[in-house]
Amino acid sequence: MTDATTPDTSGLNSWIEISDSAYATNLDFFRGLVGDTVELSAVVKSNAYGHGLREIADLAIRHGADSFCVHGLEEALELREAGFEQDILVMGHVPLARVVAAVDHDLRVVLYSLESARRLAEVATEDRPARVHLKIETGTHRQGVDGDELGMILEYLKSASTVRVEGVYTHFANIEDTTDHRYARTQVARFRKALQQIEEAGFRPDKRHAACSAAVALFPETHLEMVRLGISQYGIWSSKETRVSFHNLHPIAGPETAAQADGPLRPVMTWKARISQVKWIPADAFVGYGCTHQTTRRTRLAVLPTGYADGYDRKLSNTGHVLVHGRRAPVLGRICMNLTMIDVTDIPDVRVEDEVVLLGRQGEKEITAEQMASVVGTIPYEIVARIAPHIPRIVVD
Ligand SMILES: Cc1ncc(COP(=O)(O)O)c(C=O)c1O
Repeated sequence: MTDATTPDTSGLNSWIEISDSAYATNLDFFRGLVGDTVELSAVVKSNAYGHGLREIADLAIRHGADSFCVHGLEEALELREAGFEQDILVMGHVPLARVVAAVDHDLRVVLYSLESARRLAEVATEDRPARVHLKIETGTHRQGVDGDELGMILEYLKSASTVRVEGVYTHFANIEDTTDHRYARTQVARFRKALQQIEEAGFRPDKRHAACSAAVALFPETHLEMVRLGISQYGIWSSKETRVSFHNLHPIAGPETAAQADGPLRPVMTWKARISQVKWIPADAFVGYGCTHQTTRRTRLAVLPTGYADGYDRKLSNTGHVLVHGRRAPVLGRICMNLTMIDVTDIPDVRVEDEVVLLGRQGEKEITAEQMASVVGTIPYEIVARIAPHIPRIVVD
């Protein structure tokens, strides 16, 4: 049965539901933290952390985000092509040969090299200036400049009339990895020093920004004029440490309910699949490649049409579980490229085409990206960002 808010998924083997209301809850929460005057930029790189670029871009604007951050030029062009006219910051390197496209499409471009500055100045005009956001190295030792190198770029920009220094930003190295934020504070101090250097060179960038999700949640002093909100707009804490630090800052009075323990965030994504075969197999039967699982009883086995090529991590082989009829069903044997086997012996009446939840909630049970990440030894970011783009993303409720 379908209605306006429940799309028909009967023709799909595997799909991802994106909850409009969960997204709205998360964005409202962060808007409340930063206030109305700070630019809330939704980081939608890598297919919106696996949630679907266009779907999330649309929700972000409808629910009050002001602008976007992406990694690559192509992502920005896809947004422009889809009709998004908001500001878009390209945070990754724009190949010098493609700089003209960034200027033509009025994109904000990260700047941390003299080569890029020169190329931008060449292709931009007084009427169509290049809009740059200087990226400051404050201790991540990834992308960025500081000290003399920053000085050289600033010196060049003084005479580059077609380049507008609209923003300046930095990125934290370990703000989400620890509850000890001394290193993050050192980075803030270095950022302030660089801001002073930029001001002394005669520039007054409108947008100073540093805050990723963890900083937005934990450090109001990093909100400045703009924040770059990534993982937590999708209802996922950057880490357990960030969740704990947040709860320490905002203690819950009285006994904690499960919902309060989750905090204000609501996961946006539910990854579903439909069972493609159900059968009895005997005791002592091997399941899957490598014969890594042998049954110890007569087993009701269900086959799912999802595998590691879809982004379902192969390390969940023999260790993961999925939700069927609101109950947990363990993964049996190795996850294949396109198939996964599960044990439904203890779950009555499981049939072909029943809905299974790989990630998300079904009834009272939930599999979170955080839990899955701890099973496979990674971070929640990787769990969601690696879900293959070919799986349909469907906005619900
Ligand atoms: C430069 C930059 N800013 C902001 C973000 C968003 O971070 P988060 O997803 O932790 O909010 C990222 C994510 O990797 C990033 O690389």
